[in-house]
Amino acid sequence: MLVTGGAGFVGSYLCEEWLRRGASVVALDDLSGGRVENLRGLLGQRGFEFVRGSAADPGLLGELVCGVTRICHLAASVGVERTCRAPHDVLARDLAATQAVTTAALAQGLPVCFTSSSEVYGPLAEPPLSEERCAVVDPSGARGAYATAKLAGEALLCSAHRQHELPVVVARLFNVVGSRQRGTQVLPAFVRAAQERRALIVHGDGAQTRCFAHARDVARALADLAVEPRAIGKLVNLGSTGEISITALAERVCELAGVEVRIERRPHAAVYATRFVETRRRVPDLARLEDLIGWVPGAALDEWIVELLGRA
Ligand SMILES: NC(=O)c1ccc[n+]([C@@H]2O[C@H](COP(=O)([O-])OP(=O)(O)OC[C@H]3O[C@@H](n4cnc5c(N)ncnc54)[C@H](O)[C@@H]3O)[C@@H](O)[C@H]2O)c1
Repeated sequence: MLVTGGAGFVGSYLCEEWLRRGASVVALDDLSGGRVENLRGLLGQRGFEFVRGSAADPGLLGELVCGVTRICHLAASVGVERTCRAPHDVLARDLAATQAVTTAALAQGLPVCFTSSSEVYGPLAEPPLSEERCAVVDPSGARGAYATAKLAGEALLCSAHRQHELPVVVARLFNVVGSRQRGTQVLPAFVRAAQERRALIVHGDGAQTRCFAHARDVARALADLAVEPRAIGKLVNLGSTGEISITALAERVCELAGVEVRIERRPHAAVYATRFVETRRRVPDLARLEDLIGWVPGAALDEWIVELLGRA
């Protein structure tokens, strides 16, 4: 198994999941966003190898795919701040990586499971978001580079499936949480602020909602999808439907941390210094996922917040 982005947040849980299932795993990561620390429990384990390098390096990929039976392609430039600050780098790097992965997979006829994103539905689509719906990305918008890279990645892999019968599964991930998530993401940022008795900064008016799933559950679902024959050639939403507003999330963190701190709203323009269209609600339709792998999302947000509070 080759897991690109294997030292990342979700990637590290996926490496664990494959090892738990008895597979050998090569984790490829350039550490641009991930950390070796995420693989602490895996380094030195039999059947596990970490390779520091780029998924956009065709030579390296060509070598690595010779010894594996499947690719899970998670490597990507993740984070709204990064996409707003360096959109061209994000688009160019992520496209190059997915192109290289597709070429290497085609050369060996290897199955690919690709993590795309709910961002491909665009900021204005009304939930529940179904895979039947056409994706709408705004290439010049604040998150356009990331969304475009994901959509183009989907197209590269799906066309390789249609034209060359490459076994491909595209999982469109919605919001994921877990203890290895970077501090810049919403929940870890709230948790750290609460622990340091600082104001929790809510971007926008805070009424926007998100649905969170735990990375451990997401990794399990990704591994199930990757080996499910009926998932081949399909786009599949992966997430939860437990909807919570960002203000309610901030309040929950304060309550569980046992602190009374200010919740401060900051306009997107002040945070990202670019045109930013907020996604008001991002709720997946999970019927396809449920049909394919019998997925029932966990709904233990309080537990996950407590897990993050315990990390510091
Ligand atoms: N976490 C979420 O809520 C979420 C939501 C939707 C989609 N996704 C997708 O899931 C995947 C994993 O996301 P994550 O949250 O774990 O982010 P992450 O940043 O923790 O993981 C991505 C990993 O890819 C690595 N990487 C980036 N470019 C690379 C390259 N060219 N070569 C090798 N390694 C490279 C980074 O170092 C990082 O370790 C990504 O594809 C992301 O787009 C995540």
